[in-house]
Amino acid sequence: MSQLGIRKVAVIGSGTMGHGIAEVSAMAGYDVVMVDVSQEILNKALERIRWSLGKFVERGRLSKDDVERIMGRIRTSLSIAEAVRDADIMIEAVPEDINLKKKVFAEADANAPPHAILATNTSSLPITEIAEATRRPDKVVGIHFFNPPPLMPLVEVIKGAKTSDETAKKAYEFAKSLGKEPIMVNRDVPGFIVNRILIALNSGVCLMAADGTYSVVEIDSATKYRAGLPMGIFELQDFTGIDVGYMVGLAVALRDPLLRVPCPLIEDLYKKGWLGQKSGRGFYEYKEGTYSRANIPREAGEKVDLVKVFAPAVNMAAWLLREGIATRDDIDKGVKLGLGWPKGVFEYADEFGIDNIVKALNELHAKYNYDLFKPDPLLEQMVKEGRLGQKSGRGFYEYGPGATVEFKEIILKKEPPLAWIILNRPMRLNTLTMTMMEEISKALDMLWDDKDVRVVIFRGAGDRAFSAGADVTAFAGPLHTYYFYISNRKFQEVVSKIERFPKPTIAAIDGYALGGGLELALACDFRIATDRSELGQPEINLGIIPGAGGTQRLIRYVGLGRAKELIMLGDRIKAEEAYRIGLVNRVVPKEKFEEEVRSFAMKLAQGPPIALTYAKYAINFGTQVPTDIGLMLEAAFFSMATTTKDAQEGVLAFLNRRKPEFKGE
Ligand code: NAI
Repeated sequence: MSQLGIRKVAVIGSGTMGHGIAEVSAMAGYDVVMVDVSQEILNKALERIRWSLGKFVERGRLSKDDVERIMGRIRTSLSIAEAVRDADIMIEAVPEDINLKKKVFAEADANAPPHAILATNTSSLPITEIAEATRRPDKVVGIHFFNPPPLMPLVEVIKGAKTSDETAKKAYEFAKSLGKEPIMVNRDVPGFIVNRILIALNSGVCLMAADGTYSVVEIDSATKYRAGLPMGIFELQDFTGIDVGYMVGLAVALRDPLLRVPCPLIEDLYKKGWLGQKSGRGFYEYKEGTYSRANIPREAGEKVDLVKVFAPAVNMAAWLLREGIATRDDIDKGVKLGLGWPKGVFEYADEFGIDNIVKALNELHAKYNYDLFKPDPLLEQMVKEGRLGQKSGRGFYEYGPGATVEFKEIILKKEPPLAWIILNRPMRLNTLTMTMMEEISKALDMLWDDKDVRVVIFRGAGDRAFSAGADVTAFAGPLHTYYFYISNRKFQEVVSKIERFPKPTIAAIDGYALGGGLELALACDFRIATDRSELGQPEINLGIIPGAGGTQRLIRYVGLGRAKELIMLGDRIKAEEAYRIGLVNRVVPKEKFEEEVRSFAMKLAQGPPIALTYAKYAINFGTQVPTDIGLMLEAAFFSMATTTKDAQEGVLAFLNRRKPEFKGE
């Protein structure tokens, strides 16, 4: 008997979900009885459990003895009445039919002990209505697992109108005892949390694909490669089954007018019998059998406006939050664990900007006229209060104690001990203009002797580029060579200022770093790139040459031969290649990017600030002069560093085997 007072679990229905729920319950040590309509089906379920446990053995997570012990805890029965007689909790997983479910619950209620909790794994039916079939509605609750239960960590615990807090809490703790990550859903709204957000997301893109705003492949490429979702939105629907999506869509639409957004594309596929991967065709064709992958090119989604794609999902999440149906953290946990999103829906919203989300929703609403797209009052309120997300330091989340200064073409975000300079022309791939360069210069001045900031990180806004180069159109001006020359020198001065800046700088590159963009990154002390990034000095293709230090700085990193190749052939190289030749310090997958950049920066931020400046200067300037002078510079910096308090602290900490705390004194 567990601390929860649960020993025996009755699982009704042993199909796709039922057998998995029985398996995880037995793995957690509970006695399990599994019920179905024939012994044959039950035997099949036992076989499926054994197969699945075998996979855990292959991965070294279970021993063969464990498997026997777990199987020994599961028995089968053809009678609900008999199975629930001494059960502490029942989990029903019969087909999604309200009358069938009510019948199961009435029978369970009549035979289970009074303390037993009766739970349903329904994906779309109201818990409140199912509970009405019993005389214990306070003990009826939804426990919604994700498929397959042994692998998916998320469980939604759903309260019906009469579910007691005690029952909900017990169900929550039970899910935890299975090693799952539960989230609490305070009202049995159709689709609960995760499916509701998914339906909102699907509805918006479906309309856009149907009227040709974007193609299916464009949307999938953008969501998969730019937003980092594990599958494209339509690809996922093919994977789940077009019939499943169609049926769930109908079921929730019946109950909730907000979700009544018919998708002509799904209906068409459903009627044709193109049910997705399992039938070899859905939104995509699966030529080499069920397990072949959809063909979604990486570059196909470049023109898709991701804000528009995600806006309906954000709107739905805002509704759930405002209605008190779930907490912010549970909603974000839900999409991360239930849908495998790299970020929560509110985290995306804060990144996109709440004002941009509201604008996109208004456009969708004007075009398609569904209530689903009418901006939720919570979002409008946030815009009114200036809670716009990351850029204003506060949205659904708070962003550090530091202030965000918005210039016209960059954003300066202080998050002590770090500061971010964000090149902010995402629609133009963050190409550099003179205004942007002047703003960078101002931002560097502001950070120059700011004691709170120890490391500065440059990155691009949006998800396509660090910076794709200088904006050629911005340089059209007086044609005289002399003016070109001095304006180019001004540009160079700003780039050089990064090199002279007294604190470590990092270029966080995700996407293109080309031409002037790469030159700016070269002036930084470190470069960290995502694996999809592309770098290059393509100026030669325009009949010109690099003008912001490319011919000088590139050599220091990659040597003369490679530098000439990059500059004189003008080809772009992938991040991996850039790493191989020493152009970038790290290459990381997109999901790990933010984390890696932060941890790299934090490591630097914990270093001794004064010695870091001296080291940077000795390297940057000592290497520009004859070696003897460089060595003298080094000696001077060395002696200056030795006399700092930080140096004393470093030695003391070393002797006492503790971590030093450098104060920059
Ligand atoms: P399924 O069709 O694979 O399994 C249902 C099982 O219930 C079958 O083995 C069937 O023989 C049995 N059954 C039918 N009538 C019965 C009765 N009167 N007594 C005992 N057993 C009976 O269905 P699946 O996919 O496992 O779905 C079950 C429930 O879980 C549904 O409510 C569904 O909405 C929900 N769900 C399904 C998910 C999925 O991905 N398949 C995910 C989460 C929830």
